[in-house]
Amino acid sequence: MEKLLEVKNLTTCFVQEGREIPLVDDVSFFINKNSVLGFVGESGCGKTMTALSLTGLLPGKNCKIVSGKINFNGQTINQIKEKDLKQIRGKEITYIFQEPSTCLNPVLNIKEQLSEVVQLYCKEISPEQINQFLIKQLELVGIRSPEEKLLSFPHQLSGGEKQRVMIAMSMIPRPALLIADEPTTALDVTIQAQILKLLDKLRQETGVAIMLISHDLNVIAELSDYIAVMYAGQIVEFAKAEQLLSKPLHPYTQGLFECLPKKEHNNQNKLKAIIGEVPKSGNFPTGCRFHPRCPQKFDKCAQAMPALFKPNPDQEVRCWLCSD
Ligand SMILES: Nc1ncnc2c1ncn2[C@@H]1O[C@H](COP(=O)(O)OP(=O)(O)OP(=O)(O)O)[C@@H](O)[C@H]1O
Ligand SMILES: [Mg+2]
Repeated sequence: MEKLLEVKNLTTCFVQEGREIPLVDDVSFFINKNSVLGFVGESGCGKTMTALSLTGLLPGKNCKIVSGKINFNGQTINQIKEKDLKQIRGKEITYIFQEPSTCLNPVLNIKEQLSEVVQLYCKEISPEQINQFLIKQLELVGIRSPEEKLLSFPHQLSGGEKQRVMIAMSMIPRPALLIADEPTTALDVTIQAQILKLLDKLRQETGVAIMLISHDLNVIAELSDYIAVMYAGQIVEFAKAEQLLSKPLHPYTQGLFECLPKKEHNNQNKLKAIIGEVPKSGNFPTGCRFHPRCPQKFDKCAQAMPALFKPNPDQEVRCWLCSD
C-alpha cells in the first residue's frame, strides 16, 4: 500500500502568556492512498486540531505547529510557503464539517456556490458546460432532481441534502484526501448510514482517501481501514481496523467499546460510561494521561508516560500493559 499522507511527531500548541500548551502532542500516523483512516476519541481530545494542523488551518495566531513533519504526496507541506500550501488546501486536501449549514452561504443558491468552486479549481470547464457538470456532481452524491436542487437555497434543503451538497463541493476539485470531521453527527441515524455509504462509494469510484473523524466508534468501525484513537492530545492506539476492532489493547479503546450499545443487551441499560473526564489541555496528569480514569492502572502509570509500544506489527499502543 502506498502512503498518501504521513505525519511524524506533530505537536501543535496554543500559546498563552508565553507558555506553550500542547493541543496535539507528538502525534504520528499515516493514511494510505484510496483508504480510510478513522480518528476516534471523546470531545476535546484534539481530533479537529490534528485535522486543521495538516493544512495550516489553525484558528488564530496563538495556535501553531511547534514541531513535526507532515508529508503529503512526497512533499513536506508544513515547511512550504503559504502560497504553495494554498494550492494543496481546498484542491488536493478538502474538508467537510459537522454542520453543513454553517459552511453554506444562506443568500446564494446551490448553483452559485458550487460554480465558485468550479471556477477556482476546474479551469477546463467552460461556462456553457458548468450546468451539466454540476448536475453530474449532484448525481454523484445521490441528490434527486439535481436540476431543481441547483436552483434551491440552503434553507430549502434537508440536513442530509445539505451535507450531500457539501460533499459534492469538496469533491469537485477531485481531491486526493477528504477530511470528514464528524460528517454525520448532526444527522439522524438513517441519514447517517446513507452518508457513510456515500463516502465509501466515493472512495471506490474516485480513489479519494478519507480521514474520518468521529467520537462514535460505530461510525469509525463502519468504514475504516486503519483506526487512530486519540486521548488528551495523543494517539494512544493506532492499528489496522480489523486488529483494533477484534482486540483493542488500550484500556481507553476498551472503554470506548464498552460505551457502545450492544444488541445482546436488549437495550437494558447496561452501557458503561468511562468514569471521569478528559483532562483539559495544559492540565494533563503526569505519567499516562489516562491513568486517573483507568480501571487497569498500576504504580508505574502515574509515574512515567508510556512510549508507543508495538505488541504486534499492525498495532501501536501507548500503555504500560503493552510494554515487554
Ligand atoms: N480556538 C482554539 N484556541 C485554543 N484552544 C482550542 C481552540 N479550539 C479548541 N481548543 C482546544 O484544543 C483541544 C482540542 O480540541 P479539538 O477541537 O481538537 O477536540 P476534538 O477532539 O475535535 O473534540 P470534539 O469531539 O468536541 O470536536 C481542546 O482542549 C480545546 O479546548
Ligand atoms: Mg472536533
